Amino acid sequence: MSARKKLAEKFSWTRKHLLGLEELSREEILHILNTADTFTDVSTRSIKKVPALRGRVVVNLFFEDSTRTRTSFSLAASRLSADVIEFSAKVSSISKGETLVDTARNIEAMGVDVIVIRHSAPGAPHYLARCVDVPIVNAGDGAHEHPTQALLDMFTIRQIKGRIDGLKVAIVGDIAHSRVARSNIWGLTKLGAKVIVVGPTTLVPSSMKAMGVEISHNLDEVLGEIDVINMLRVQRERITSNVFPSVEEYTRLFGLNAERMARAKKDLLVMHPGPINRGIELTSEVADGANSAILKQVTNGLAVRMAVLFLVNQAHQGSN
Ligand code: CP
Repeated sequence: MSARKKLAEKFSWTRKHLLGLEELSREEILHILNTADTFTDVSTRSIKKVPALRGRVVVNLFFEDSTRTRTSFSLAASRLSADVIEFSAKVSSISKGETLVDTARNIEAMGVDVIVIRHSAPGAPHYLARCVDVPIVNAGDGAHEHPTQALLDMFTIRQIKGRIDGLKVAIVGDIAHSRVARSNIWGLTKLGAKVIVVGPTTLVPSSMKAMGVEISHNLDEVLGEIDVINMLRVQRERITSNVFPSVEEYTRLFGLNAERMARAKKDLLVMHPGPINRGIELTSEVADGANSAILKQVTNGLAVRMAVLFLVNQAHQGSN
């Protein structure tokens, strides 16, 4: 019996959509990570394909720019033998005023089986899930959630550290506006990690405490006690709105460099969702250093997204 069939016998996955980690149970998150484990070797084979989604069609419906997520979903669908349609809002009839729902319904009418959506509006995937019958996968909705990024982050932590339960994980940067932070917080706390969110007071509101995290405005104070550090991208577009005095000031207080690494645990795992601003949230020396898992995260994104596409399709087929 295959590893995936054994997993399916132990846990019955019934969710047709992956909209966020807030609504997922610990068991559901673990089942996605365990299913992803069964897909890791596909990328190392001479023929990098399995027939799990043969005859199915996956559409990437991206209304925001993306390098990692879009490519990773495309490749994941292709490795599952699905046909992939790349939709770009910039060259679509959205420019003629067509709505999101009409766009999705028209795509569904062509016989698409899974819609992967990235949109700047928080809740856009949830809205679509109520309007179409096919599975919806959230590839990032505004500042709300980025569930597959958090899943691949957790997959990477578990792969390298051997566990998540009991680890201290710092998430550093613009927590208030970060979908990566929110999804990581939901997921990591459910899997038993202690999460510390770190950043300037303007970007780390005290209301975040309600999510079950600790708050710090001083990276140097927590540096020595953490096992994992996830450095969020500095969203330069926000600098003009006075959230911190200058990029230099931010880097001095919250940037990760060799000097700070020397004061951290020797095996501190350094993560970043990308795209990196080298020299701002972390130096090149750290980004490319021995503790960095940044490219490993990208590699693992493929197996995680294969698992997600596989599971939502399976739930949809089972419900029809
Ligand atoms: N981490 C992430 O979402 O990267 P992209 O914006 O390139 O997809």
